Amino acid sequence: MIENAQIENILNFYKCPCNVIESRQGGGFIDYFLQPLNGTTLNKLQSRVNDFSGAIGQAVSIAFENFNIILRIKEAQKSYDYFAYRCNLDKRAGQIGFGINPRGEYVQYNLFTMPHLLVAGATGSGKSVFLHSAIISLMNDKNTKLRLIDLKRVELSKYNGINHLLSNAITTPEEAERILRVEVNEMEGRYQLMERCGVSNYKDLPANVALCARVIVIDELADLMLNRATRKSVENSIVRIAQLGRAAGMHLIVATQRPSTDVITGLIKANIPCKIAFMTSSAVDSRVIGIKGAEHLNGRGDALLSIAGHQEVERLQAFFISEETIAKLVKGVKEAQPKQAQTQPKQTKRGFWARVFG
Ligand SMILES: Nc1ncnc2c1ncn2[C@@H]1O[C@H](COP(=O)(O)OP(=O)(O)O)[C@@H](O)[C@H]1O
Ligand SMILES: [Mg+2]
Repeated sequence: MIENAQIENILNFYKCPCNVIESRQGGGFIDYFLQPLNGTTLNKLQSRVNDFSGAIGQAVSIAFENFNIILRIKEAQKSYDYFAYRCNLDKRAGQIGFGINPRGEYVQYNLFTMPHLLVAGATGSGKSVFLHSAIISLMNDKNTKLRLIDLKRVELSKYNGINHLLSNAITTPEEAERILRVEVNEMEGRYQLMERCGVSNYKDLPANVALCARVIVIDELADLMLNRATRKSVENSIVRIAQLGRAAGMHLIVATQRPSTDVITGLIKANIPCKIAFMTSSAVDSRVIGIKGAEHLNGRGDALLSIAGHQEVERLQAFFISEETIAKLVKGVKEAQPKQAQTQPKQTKRGFWARVFG
């Protein structure tokens, strides 16, 4: 990173004297906040951009944002392989390793306290890669069960056969709609069980009726929401689980490349307070999910994370996982897992309720 004083010298040399009042590094940029001196103007600075670039030796732009004049140097984007950092990540149930922030710190949060997450970004911005790192993070705990919905059939079917999955990845809108209703029933059953046992959280249930946490991952909500046949029911199910899921151990991760109001409806948005935005194709898309400025992100895992209750949105570079690594991991997990457990994992089906209540 170039010293503030050196930037001041260069600006001075080209007769655009400024003080550098602050510099910030993050998301593939270094920003120098300028305070113009002696008649330096935004126009004058902009007309000298090529000179500055030559003197600094890197591509430079002059930006005007929130009444600040910024000299911006674009850095090469770094990639952080999830597995290279995995040993430093928390392995508790529900914990997700998101990536690395501009200060070089790990960004990790627990999905179970969030308790749901919305993922948005244009095609190619890094949503699927992020979903993989979230799924792999969640697989650290054997008592976290997954329901994967992927109508594109290419991304999440890779996990088929792993014991964490409640069923193979769901690939049709009708099946997705039905499964979401099944999950709402599951949640309602859990509430009845909690009531009978006199507890207000599934974690406090007695050991003989202990339940696993469930996470429903939807890659491309638009496929369900823009389908007339499934829209209403899917919205109802998602909103219900979003509202009541936390205490029953039911969590959602919902991704879309099309964060328009007909996909992320007001009800869905209001009930999923935690969001991660990758580069969106417009300012409108960014605004629909409630994060400002995602249209300026660099793509390929550059992201803004908004956690409920936190005042500021966090910039981060999401972890990268390659297709080959996922394939290797899935193969390894399948080989290592106990064979007989491949039958249905414990769930609160009708038979289960009969056993519990006699
Ligand atoms: N976190 C990341 N770090 C580096 N490169 C990434 C990252 N996420 C995505 N990419 C690059 O961008 C491409 C598209 O990412 P993908 O997750 O498939 O996008 P989306 O699902 O949003 O369409 C990937 O194949 C990869 O080359
Ligand atoms: Mg994708």
